[in-house]
Amino acid sequence: MKAPEAADWRRMEPGDVPALMALSAIVHPDFYEGEAMFRDRLALFPEGSLVLPLTDGSLAAYAIAYPVRRFAPPPLDTVLGRLPADADALYIHDVAVASEWRGRKLAEPAVERLLALAEPLGATVLVSVYGTPPFWMRFGFRPVDDPALRDKLASYGEEAVFMLRETPGAVEKRGPH
Ligand SMILES: CC(C)(COP(=O)(O)OP(=O)(O)OC[C@H]1O[C@@H](n2cnc3c(N)ncnc32)[C@H](O)[C@@H]1OP(=O)(O)O)[C@@H](O)C(=O)NCCC(=O)NCCS
Repeated sequence: MKAPEAADWRRMEPGDVPALMALSAIVHPDFYEGEAMFRDRLALFPEGSLVLPLTDGSLAAYAIAYPVRRFAPPPLDTVLGRLPADADALYIHDVAVASEWRGRKLAEPAVERLLALAEPLGATVLVSVYGTPPFWMRFGFRPVDDPALRDKLASYGEEAVFMLRETPGAVEKRGPH
């Protein structure tokens, strides 16, 4: 099979959802999310759902992001139905690369594409799991530790770290209270 390349990233289509769920189940065995959640985000913010396809129809990677209120990441596996009218950040819900394709900087172009979508919103936020803060810090994210966030992170496990990246030049906002 041809190795995936950074240039192969494209927008997700509804037909990609089964392959995406197959990869999600392998990468996140402890964080199940159902088909309705993936279809919800694709419908609400199609420009924020990206896939890196392989020639056999499976996916080497995917990335999902959409606008949120900055300190209110939605719980896992929830259908939103609509985006908040007062969104002030882009939320990177997930970036996942199949284990056999990691370490090739394949996630980077997708993250850069998502960060460009965050420009009008002023910031990007995410919940880092599996000890990935150093990966995210490369893109300018910093950890935010605040008691008000801890409950919201409960479904992501004990090692979850909330991270924020202000869009360069954006006006600084207050904390989560
Ligand atoms: C985090 C992730 C998206 C990075 O994707 P990637 O395309 O492999 O990213 P990079 O090639 O830039 O590698 C990032 C780091 O992964 C580590 N890495 C390198 N090769 C690796 C491999 N074969 N397997 C696992 N990790 C590897 C290295 O520490 C590397 O950092 P370095 O470049 O400073 O050495 C990917 O590892 C992944 O999907 N992980 C599981 C899901 C996840 O944690 N998603 C983020 C949730 S917040």
